[in-house]
Amino acid sequence: MKKGNNLLLGISTSTRAKLSTQGYLEALNRMSDYQTMYELIYELGSEKKISNTEGLLLASLFGARSKDIDINVINLKDVFKSTKISKQELTKELDRCSGIILGTPVYFGDRSSLFEKLVEHIRTNKIDTKNKIFGMVTAGAKRNGGQETTLVFGLLDALNLGFNVVGNGPPTSQFGGTGWAGDIGKIQDDNFGIDTSMGVGKRVKRYFEIISSKATSKKELTIGILYSGFNKKGDMRIQDLILNIQKSGVETKLIDIDRLKIKPCLACAKCPHTLETDYGCIIKDDMSEIRELFGGINGLILISRKGNDKIGKYQLFLERTRFIRRSNFIMSDIPFGVYSIEDKLTGSQLSTRMFMSFLRHNVFVVSPLVQSISDGSNTVRIGHIDELCCNLIKIASKTKSAISKSKSRYTYKSIGYGNT
Ligand SMILES: Cc1cc2nc3c(=O)[nH]c(=O)nc-3n(C[C@H](O)[C@H](O)[C@H](O)COP(=O)(O)O)c2cc1C
Repeated sequence: MKKGNNLLLGISTSTRAKLSTQGYLEALNRMSDYQTMYELIYELGSEKKISNTEGLLLASLFGARSKDIDINVINLKDVFKSTKISKQELTKELDRCSGIILGTPVYFGDRSSLFEKLVEHIRTNKIDTKNKIFGMVTAGAKRNGGQETTLVFGLLDALNLGFNVVGNGPPTSQFGGTGWAGDIGKIQDDNFGIDTSMGVGKRVKRYFEIISSKATSKKELTIGILYSGFNKKGDMRIQDLILNIQKSGVETKLIDIDRLKIKPCLACAKCPHTLETDYGCIIKDDMSEIRELFGGINGLILISRKGNDKIGKYQLFLERTRFIRRSNFIMSDIPFGVYSIEDKLTGSQLSTRMFMSFLRHNVFVVSPLVQSISDGSNTVRIGHIDELCCNLIKIASKTKSAISKSKSRYTYKSIGYGNT
């Protein structure tokens, strides 16, 4: 391993996986460019030498490749269904890696049992996951067979284990690699699945670039805090969060979303496509304040509270954030944290919805997802706010210099719409 390099660990959790570690590394060595990557997946797929998940995993690792990244791959069958790779070896690789791209087949809209074993292994061996990145690719036999639900469940696992997570980045900027193939030997026909998987690799590579860059002094950082669902001036939980950030010397900028006049999105085609244009929304309301905030922050924490007393404007705000993607993904590479508060039991999965929606803005979602759930007399807290602040500030300090060096890195292209 070259000094200073990050180690990316590719992990296959397919029961039909065929490649050994050596097989993966040889295949990656044979891929010199996009064309050869695609041809090789085509060759290995047609000859039924790789499972569908493995085809996607190879594409994602190709997307991540760089002289500054070392790659190792572990097929979990070799750990849990044979003794080719010992559990100690798995622990060692998980410990020393800086990030993981994980491939899983869709099994009943969920990830595989080998994936579940990995989660248990990381937990029971207390493997350090702090500030490590996690991206995912998945293959299902049906077009809408649960690829996205599988990604939601897998990314949630990763966040709960302490990883930060990425999606597949522009142009679609969804949740990960989504392959469509049933029988072995079919994944090579799904260009979209291959491309979205390659996108996951590119997002992981970007994260490594950022964490390896020079840190900016905390005094120069600004963290945005947006909150909704509170009575006037918020409450002590917001005050605690602000103090937590301010004690590290970082500036905070707060907006109470509910105070703003926000109208519903018109689903028109006027959002800007270039950075040069203004905010560009044809609706004249207070969302322009949010646009201004997003132009000047290095990290963002979004807080939404659901209680009996007040229905906040979170959902209204969310649907109006479309301009973020359409302004060439202005929130790209910004660390993003979630704090959900449910002061009545709605079972609304608020924190999951919040992080998934913002993944579409090409952010890095930072662990832990902080949740406070109350039934009126008892409160359960999941994730610590001080840990979220600490992790988020750490990434923000790296992101600032990396972003200023690479302005206009992403270009918005409309997918699924006319070229408007
Ligand atoms: C137990 C089982 C459950 C499955 N459930 C789904 C499903 O819910 N949706 C789907 O699209 N495909 C489902 N499939 C199909 C696989 O996801 C698909 O064949 C995939 O390509 C397998 O990846 P692999 O080649 O890496 O093993 C299922 C397959 C099995 C064996």
